[in-house]
Amino acid sequence: MNARFITFEGIDGAGKSTHVGWYVERLRQRGLPVLLTREPGGSALAESLRELLLHQPMSLDTELLLVFAARRDHLERTVRPALAAGQWVVCDRFTDSTYAYQGGGRGAPLERIAQLESWVHGDLQPQRTYLFDLAPDEAAQRRSAVRAADRFEAEDLAFFERVRRGYLDRVAQAPRRFMLIDGKQSIADIRKLLEEDIVSICSI
Ligand code: ADP
Ligand code: TYD
Repeated sequence: MNARFITFEGIDGAGKSTHVGWYVERLRQRGLPVLLTREPGGSALAESLRELLLHQPMSLDTELLLVFAARRDHLERTVRPALAAGQWVVCDRFTDSTYAYQGGGRGAPLERIAQLESWVHGDLQPQRTYLFDLAPDEAAQRRSAVRAADRFEAEDLAFFERVRRGYLDRVAQAPRRFMLIDGKQSIADIRKLLEEDIVSICSI
């Protein structure tokens, strides 16, 4: 079966991390070779850039360039070699996060993001993206119960409203790539939906 590139997206606290590890295990149980990775990060250099992005104050342009610098290294060293070797790659966040956070959340021009996207990974796009959608106040409550906020998570609800809208605009542009998941559902119900989608992806 051809290697696939699959991404998980959503505002912080919507439920990605709760499901991504489980999802990868389900693929492995079907005998598929799967690499689980994340952005920003997923290679040694990109993990160092992640630390800066999450904790150092910086301008929007610097943030945007660092996100794509990390992505370039991650693609060169981790994602492309794995896909070339026939592995499925499941990535916790990818370029939709940039459109949603730097574009929607912080107001970076979407054309500029598109230029960087085309330079950094033009032909490579995920075949499937799961978007966990949840109201920002509920997501904030969920994450404050379990972890301290980083530079993005410390933003206010209006920021996360814009990020959420940025994601929904992405879905409108590529409805076939996305599966929109209502994050209010129970974990068991979300797993059922993901399981059904795995069956359909594997039959293509
Ligand atoms: P993300 O990775 O999207 O930032 P997490 O998966 O870390 O979010 O989830 C944030 C918190 O919400 C965790 O404590 C998790 O247990 C809880 N959570 C995740 N999904 C659900 C759900 N469907 N219902 C209730 N709580 C959930
Ligand atoms: P994440 O790994 O989901 O955080 P956590 O480990 O706390 O669950 O993501 C880290 C943060 O990086 C998240 O707040 C969104 C942000 N981000 C961007 O702003 N732009 C991007 O392109 C990416 C990939 C992430």
